[in-house]
Amino acid sequence: MKIAVLGATGQTGMNVVSQALDKGHSVKAIVRTPAKMTITHANLEVVEGNIFSAESLQEHFKDVDAVISTLGFSPFTRPVTGYLNATKAMVTALKSCEKKRLLLMHSWYTQPQSQSKAPFFIRWFLFTIIGSNLTNMYETEQYLESDECQDINYSVILPGGLSNAAVTNTPFLAKEDEYDIKGNGSRIARADVARYLIKTAEEDLHHRKVVSIALDA
Ligand SMILES: NC(=O)c1ccc[n+]([C@@H]2O[C@H](COP(=O)([O-])OP(=O)(O)OC[C@H]3O[C@@H](n4cnc5c(N)ncnc54)[C@H](OP(=O)(O)O)[C@@H]3O)[C@@H](O)[C@H]2O)c1
Repeated sequence: MKIAVLGATGQTGMNVVSQALDKGHSVKAIVRTPAKMTITHANLEVVEGNIFSAESLQEHFKDVDAVISTLGFSPFTRPVTGYLNATKAMVTALKSCEKKRLLLMHSWYTQPQSQSKAPFFIRWFLFTIIGSNLTNMYETEQYLESDECQDINYSVILPGGLSNAAVTNTPFLAKEDEYDIKGNGSRIARADVARYLIKTAEEDLHHRKVVSIALDA
């Protein structure tokens, strides 16, 4: 496959790029600072693009089979708007492409009603910090469900707390339309999230779905 990656210079994005290349895919990393991309590979193309400009993205999306976004935005610049604004640009760009496959990385508990299920520490400490990110991620998920996006084959992958541990080969648990999932704890390595994003693209899973993931116990 040829996969475009947004957020490719980030912690999860780097894992997506390296694992996709290891699996024999071609990768187009769409970045704002090409010098930050430390991976070099014959099947990796690094291009400069504006994540908020459909015009800029359209040019880069036209020959790809899937777009994977692991974009992340600071919770300290509020309100957080980047997830929705970048997704709107990606959707507009994809509309003129033959393949309209979009995979996004969000987080457990984007749906407000699901947040009461979170453990005490997360509700009373973490949500006060990342609340605006979760709100904007959920706005994005609702936008993807709207009439405007009916032609977009999207999957939004929701992991729990991220770590920088090495990739595993542990099987995944995945539940569509759920905003958390009981697995082997609430933490998951960015490398394993990357592994699931690539698996979702390769196996064409979770059409037009939000899906919580965890490692199997
Ligand atoms: N921390 C957790 O426990 C946790 C749990 C679940 C989900 N998440 C979410 O998972 C996602 C990925 O996390 P991560 O730790 O891998 O993220 P990260 O390392 O912070 O990477 C974020 C990426 O987004 C890019 N980006 C941000 N603003 C941009 C802009 N205006 N233009 C172009 N690129 C931009 C960054 O580019 P540069 O490299 O150029 O800065 C970087 O590549 C985030 O949305 C995060 O909120 C986090």
